Amino acid sequence: TVIRREDYAPPAYLIDTVDLTFDLDPAKTRVLNRMRVRRNPEAPVQPLRLDGEELNLARVLVNGAGTSFKMDGGQLVLESLPDGADPFELEIFSTCAPAKNTQLMGLYVSQGTFFTQCEAEGFRRITYFLDRPDVMATYTVTLRADKRQYPVLLSNGNLVESGDLEAGRHYAKWVDPHRKPCYLFALVAGNLVHREQKIISRSGTEHTLQIYVRRGDLDKTEHAMNALMASIAWDETRFGLPLDLERFMIVATSDFNMGAMENKGLNIFNTKYVLASPATATDTDFANVESVVAHEYFHNWTGNRVTCRDWFQLSLKEGLTVFRDQEFSMDMAGSPSARAVKRIEDVRVLRTAQFPEDAGPMAHPVRPDQYVEINNFYTVTVYEKGAEVVRMMQTLVGREGFARGLKRYFERHDGQAVTCDDFAQAMADANPDSELARLLAEFKRWYSQAGTPRVHASGQHDAATRTYTLTLSQSCPPTPGQPVKEPFVIPVTMGLLGADGRELPLQLEGEAQHAGTHRTLVLTQPSQRFTFVGIEQPPVPSLLRGFSAPVILEQDDSDANLLTLLAHDSDPFNRWEAAQRLTLRRALAAVRAPGPVQADVLDTACLDALRSVLRHPELDAAFKELVLTLPSETYIAEQLDEVEPQRIHAVREAMRSQLAHALHEDWVWAYEQHKDTGAYRPDPVNAGRRALAGLALYMLCLAARDNGNPVWPGKTYQRFKDAGNMTDRFQALQALVGSGHALAQEALQRFHAQFQHDDLVLDKWFALQAGQPDRGGHVLPLVKQLMQHPDFHLRNPNRARSVISTYCHSNPGAFHRSDAAGYVFWSERVIEIDAFNPQVAARLARALDRWKKLAEPYRSAAREAIARVAAHEPLSNDVREVVTRALADG
Ligand code: ARG
Ligand code: ZN
Repeated sequence: TVIRREDYAPPAYLIDTVDLTFDLDPAKTRVLNRMRVRRNPEAPVQPLRLDGEELNLARVLVNGAGTSFKMDGGQLVLESLPDGADPFELEIFSTCAPAKNTQLMGLYVSQGTFFTQCEAEGFRRITYFLDRPDVMATYTVTLRADKRQYPVLLSNGNLVESGDLEAGRHYAKWVDPHRKPCYLFALVAGNLVHREQKIISRSGTEHTLQIYVRRGDLDKTEHAMNALMASIAWDETRFGLPLDLERFMIVATSDFNMGAMENKGLNIFNTKYVLASPATATDTDFANVESVVAHEYFHNWTGNRVTCRDWFQLSLKEGLTVFRDQEFSMDMAGSPSARAVKRIEDVRVLRTAQFPEDAGPMAHPVRPDQYVEINNFYTVTVYEKGAEVVRMMQTLVGREGFARGLKRYFERHDGQAVTCDDFAQAMADANPDSELARLLAEFKRWYSQAGTPRVHASGQHDAATRTYTLTLSQSCPPTPGQPVKEPFVIPVTMGLLGADGRELPLQLEGEAQHAGTHRTLVLTQPSQRFTFVGIEQPPVPSLLRGFSAPVILEQDDSDANLLTLLAHDSDPFNRWEAAQRLTLRRALAAVRAPGPVQADVLDTACLDALRSVLRHPELDAAFKELVLTLPSETYIAEQLDEVEPQRIHAVREAMRSQLAHALHEDWVWAYEQHKDTGAYRPDPVNAGRRALAGLALYMLCLAARDNGNPVWPGKTYQRFKDAGNMTDRFQALQALVGSGHALAQEALQRFHAQFQHDDLVLDKWFALQAGQPDRGGHVLPLVKQLMQHPDFHLRNPNRARSVISTYCHSNPGAFHRSDAAGYVFWSERVIEIDAFNPQVAARLARALDRWKKLAEPYRSAAREAIARVAAHEPLSNDVREVVTRALADG
């Protein structure tokens, strides 16, 4: 059944308090749920319908006495309840089976420890409840369990009581003073150890911070603790938002469907985003831990203090919180160049994951209008595009105006469950003279219209009037259910460069004076002209600086202009973008050209420009590494109407090979210059140096593959063995595996032997193999072999993803086989995984979203594979929604 946003109605009943008692047992956990319930005066009189899923109901009492009830689907329906507005006591006793919970939603067991995951609709798998975010209650939770097996008993809020019970059991009682929706409920029970940190906040209150992990992982929690402290300090400084809890806990589990969860005071994390040590985690892992810890912490205000009225408003908390974690990482990075590196990385995610989503069968607005399964809408659109919408608001009201808007939002809505409209309104009201306030209704189309707008830019210089006229036009292709779009409000931050690279003053016709060399134009119409005065020579436009809007910019400017931008643009984002456009242009030409793929895709001018970036005396290593990394196969594919994955792969490989050979001496230089970073620190400067050294090594191994020279593979193997940290070690391993060198096998074996007891490192080992460049179709058989490996566990989401998702989602050259074997493999795995974990299966099902764009024979084969999944019985709602929408696309 389809759930529609327009059908929202307030809850018929309200739940003020919840008192839960758990007798924890993996096979059969008993849950006693005592609630104070009352009729909602705002809603018509009607029966109480409580959600439940996979529960065994034993008893229902109203004010201490038995009552009649019936079941309707999963719902427990109570019809004869006391009249009037007075609260009544509702007691429900039920049991569930955590050990058999393979979906990892609700209460489940992972490696002998109990965990919960309730967002979005997991609480109903724990007890009968009004499982919707606009029902907020205060919780008292008593946990009882065997003391030896489960010495640690945690829930939200504060520990108020604990002690021993008979038969070797013990208990702990927790009270959470904050009202919360049930999706923020959490409990953990197991044999865990913790790191603890006391902090005094600005107001002088003491807080206890704790990170709970398995014994043996404690030495990998320092980075997460530092990130947590930095996040707390940042939210107070930048937005005046303090920690409102005496105790803030993070717990890590190795079985988790997603990244992490912001349960009030008790965040539960995938180990991947908590644990990090120099010997086992890469720079990327360190950065991810920092940003996910920050993200979940920031939810404490944006998500928990103010939550969503209904799940259509998910981006209210997710888009805003992603924006906040992105800003945090940028502020932590420090220098303008390091900020730009973070921005470029975020835009890459948007372009390679969100743009395709917005152009495919699952396209949906940032605030969706309908869903079958809400879990399918924890998407890059809701999260990352949602963050871009918030970022555009900041661009339109300014950094201070944004902080003012956020303050207004909390003044109005603290403690409430609200909508995206409420957020935008607070922002506009706090900035009444802003463009946002003036254009609010039009701006909010970003919430309601799906699809990536295209902005076409063309410029005209008039020597006689010394003017430059920039024409910006916008359009947006249809998406499912939305054939026609209204124009968007698009902030286009820009500058103009002279031919010598100097920035020109920007004065629009009619303005009294110029507004500096960097400004934001606001495009609101289908087409608009902006005329700049005092422009002597044809300028080089630098548009959409910092990626000021999530749009596709179409600009057919000359190579010469792009080379000028690459050499001189004061905006580092556009400098990088110029290199991307130069190489992308050549890649597309080579893909479209008739006949076999030529070896010389890149011309001398392009190679020289890339070389001068690599050798540049002032640019940061991290930035160089981004410039020297070619556009991904997925991004190239998105530019084409018909996709030939094999050909795209061949073209990109040819380009990489060219870069490896033409810049050989420069790579040697870059490697020697950047290979030593001393004692390991994960900061952006050191990480950038390692990233560039790693790319150089990869290039040197690629060149060696063609010329048979054993020197660099030998050095790489040596570096692999001697590396002082995981980043260097893994990069060396990647270079050997990626270039297909004979030493790769030895290195892989050695790596496995060394790290076989570390799950997160093993995930990397699996992923590296499943994601390697295909050589004559060797990857699929390898993937099947990896699934037979004793360390492969299909039921562990991280492990399943490391092999299967890496292959299906991230290795297009290996996945799209002309014999369709990749698609057959995909369909079998989707069906197999769906039988025990629909959420993981539905993510995997998205791998063929873009089937319609494929050239034959891929297209027909992909369609057949999707149809095979769709025809399978039984199928979860999750997977059914994905494949049904995919088929409807054709
Ligand atoms: N709110 C979490 C976060 O973004 C994500 C939880 C998603 N869970 C799910 N089952 N879909 O931090
Ligand atoms: Zn989130």
